[in-house]
Amino acid sequence: MPSRPTKLIPPTFSRTPSLDAETVELEVAIDFPEGVEAIGLAVAPALDGVDDEIPAALGLDRAALTRAGFTGELGQTLVIPSQDAPTFIAVGVGAPEKRTAAALRDVAAAFARAASSFATIGLDVAHAFDLDAASAGQLVVEGALLARYRYTELKREAKRTPLVALHLVAAGDDLAETATGAHRGEVLARSANLARDLANTPPGHLTATDLGEVAQLLGAANGFDVEVFDRDALIELGLGGLLGVNAGSVEEPRMIKLRYTPKDADGSPVEPAGHLALVGKGIMYDSGGISLKPSDPSHAAMKMDMAGAGAILSAMTALDELHCASSVTAFLMCTDNMPSGSATMLGDVLTFRNGTTVEIKNTDAEGRLVLADGLSLAVEEGPDAIVDIATLTGAAIMALGTKTAAVHGTEQGIVDRTLASAKATDEQLWQLPLERSYRKQLDSDVADLANIGGRYAGSTLAALFLAEFVGDVPWAHLDIAGTMLVESDESWRSKGATGYGTRLLVDLALNFSA
Ligand code: BES
Ligand code: MN
Ligand code: ZN
Repeated sequence: MPSRPTKLIPPTFSRTPSLDAETVELEVAIDFPEGVEAIGLAVAPALDGVDDEIPAALGLDRAALTRAGFTGELGQTLVIPSQDAPTFIAVGVGAPEKRTAAALRDVAAAFARAASSFATIGLDVAHAFDLDAASAGQLVVEGALLARYRYTELKREAKRTPLVALHLVAAGDDLAETATGAHRGEVLARSANLARDLANTPPGHLTATDLGEVAQLLGAANGFDVEVFDRDALIELGLGGLLGVNAGSVEEPRMIKLRYTPKDADGSPVEPAGHLALVGKGIMYDSGGISLKPSDPSHAAMKMDMAGAGAILSAMTALDELHCASSVTAFLMCTDNMPSGSATMLGDVLTFRNGTTVEIKNTDAEGRLVLADGLSLAVEEGPDAIVDIATLTGAAIMALGTKTAAVHGTEQGIVDRTLASAKATDEQLWQLPLERSYRKQLDSDVADLANIGGRYAGSTLAALFLAEFVGDVPWAHLDIAGTMLVESDESWRSKGATGYGTRLLVDLALNFSA
């Protein structure tokens, strides 16, 4: 087979430094040490005659702050110019009823952005929030590290100041707990930033083959097992969906199987609290195939069509470090979707892992094809529940926009778990129905199923297609098409790939039991 000329750009993801995630020095103490370049201090708005004290270090009173347009609203920041270091930054914490856990993460993110030209920063706002010390430490670190993320891998000169150190203050009694939380926040942010790197990487720099190599490196470094299946192995396994999507490509497909098993302190396996299976859509680039997409900006974003697989792989890197008590088995279904003389044609019928035949009526509805085989493999493992995650439908974006992902499922228990994890991580999620009466739209004249239905309820139709492959295992499906990227910086989301789903899946696994 001819190879792609774009391979003239040699570095692949596995050979770039992205894997050695930037490490930020975290320090928790009762006071800020010398040398902190920028310090954020909490300021509340003046409410109903109650005017909280303004930290003296800011050197300004309420009237001066107000004249500068700073009221103390949640997430507002004001850099106070000064001759000498450190530079103080007023950080609005809003009215007391607004100070939720998600708000603290957002406040830390806003501060880290306001301090974007400083490498060594410190933040003292957690005391204004009614949260336990561990949560506060976690949320502040998460917010700051997620906000300072930038994809700079391919720039000759990165026009940004990397974060070198983040200092937190806490009362003496809370130091240990705050530090534990801070470490947890660091693991979570590092995982999500890895997912962002994976999704932001250009398609020619991260093929399915490359992702297999990356997974192997990550598994070895983070305590989970990785098995990579090449084209011949996929033929052996009968993964007709994955192979059918790959048919037009000069790049080989890969199925990547990951397994995390809980261990005790000396590394021997312990009885898992439960067994969770994950399935990720890993379309390294979605051109639409023969049903070619138009050349618009949304097409250019299709390097991120592997964001579901990326979120799972990244989440797996956190489980050992955070002592997850359940075992997790994951299947990443990876290929690009390309048009060519060998591509799957409209009207073709593919035979899937579980024997189901599917008529292809639109090659751009490819995600469900690779997921179907992944779901069959997951069912064969006999897990307590299956969760899949995929940039699956434009319809999910139409329904919920770019801030909220969709969840559909066959069993409310597992759907509720995903909703709870979404709430805990501020990765917003909303349940949409699995309306069974629409299923007949997926009937085919020649096969068991067609891969598309009618014009309406596109995310439900995709979910109904997937539901054909989950047997009676409790299942939830996350459609993250809308939340995979943001156009500009917004709270903890940094411009580009969001890493959505990574922290949600870690939370889900950590709280999972049979
Ligand atoms: N990867 C796309 C969905 C997508 C669109 C994700 C925009 C992120 C942003 C998916 O493979 C796709 O093409 N879906 C089609 C399905 C249709 C042909 C039934 C869609 O939603 O238009
Ligand atoms: Mn598509
Ligand atoms: Zn796609």
